[in-house]
Amino acid sequence: MENSKRHPMAGSITGEYFVSDDGSVRVPALMTRPAAFPKVREDLVAYTWNDSDFLLASYPKNGTNFIWEIMTMLVKGSANYANIVKGALMIDIFPIGESSQLFPSPRVLNTHYRTDVLPQEFRKGKTVAILRNPKDVCVSWYYDMKNLASINSQSHLFEDMNFSQYLPRFLHDKDAPYGTYFDFVEYMWSLRNNSNILIVFYEDLKLDPLATIQKLNEFMETNRSIDLIQQIAEATSFDKMKEGKLLLSLSKDLIKLEHADNEKGHSLLKQLKTRMGHIYRKGGIGDWKNHFTVAANKKFDDFLRQWEGGKSIPFKY
Ligand code: A3P
Repeated sequence: MENSKRHPMAGSITGEYFVSDDGSVRVPALMTRPAAFPKVREDLVAYTWNDSDFLLASYPKNGTNFIWEIMTMLVKGSANYANIVKGALMIDIFPIGESSQLFPSPRVLNTHYRTDVLPQEFRKGKTVAILRNPKDVCVSWYYDMKNLASINSQSHLFEDMNFSQYLPRFLHDKDAPYGTYFDFVEYMWSLRNNSNILIVFYEDLKLDPLATIQKLNEFMETNRSIDLIQQIAEATSFDKMKEGKLLLSLSKDLIKLEHADNEKGHSLLKQLKTRMGHIYRKGGIGDWKNHFTVAANKKFDDFLRQWEGGKSIPFKY
């Protein structure tokens, strides 16, 4: 692949790939701690699916945190924010054997892999896939990658990459972390008529949260009241959720803060706010319009026109 299309984090940090049954799909295994990967894989292969759990399958930056919080609230029957971090139930990074002991079912397991590269057991439970328009995903992923660059040894090249340089890499490099967005979407969309799959669009959650949460409630058979659904919609609106999750993570660290002098407390607060800022950036629809030049937009649209498998997907821009 020519260099201008090669993703700075192309390939697998672990040297491992998740591969579909017939070997035709290979998705790089992305891990921030490669040493933990053998245990992650071993646990996944040994796992027996528990029908009281749900799986959330999302490509990065599609609103994973947003919908995970909503699904967890539906499972718990409460509009309080989850007091565990999503990452603890992320089967890609945290060994599921350990998470099962620490955080028993029912729960919302989550993954950034398309489900055909996961062991069979992870393809039979109730699964929600969230999709978002690819232009906003591209912008959101670009910023997240830049932030990840500071913690990921392979991604230092990202620090100097501007958005126009990133865009062709998002479109073309199948060896990018988690593969290309287009392959992910096309596969998950092909499952849309399976009775154990629900596809939700990020934009619908934003534009009509009540109806979309109700759809989740029905699919998950959680039987929550309209009143609770209303409370969940309010609690997970962007500004409230950003603030609420920050306060929650702060409360865990308050004990530390109490004993810290002002300077340390201040720096901890700053760190937490930065972390939150990475996950809860703008939370809107159409930020791509602030980043795409006319030429870049044309290139993207040309690409979308040639993407046969994406033609029937009703993205909202
Ligand atoms: P932006 O970068 O466009 O702001 P993920 O959780 O998959 O990493 O996705 C992150 C994206 O979802 C970010 O998009 C983030 O702001 C947005 N997001 C997170 N929580 C949200 C919420 N409660 N409402 C709307 N968008 C949310």
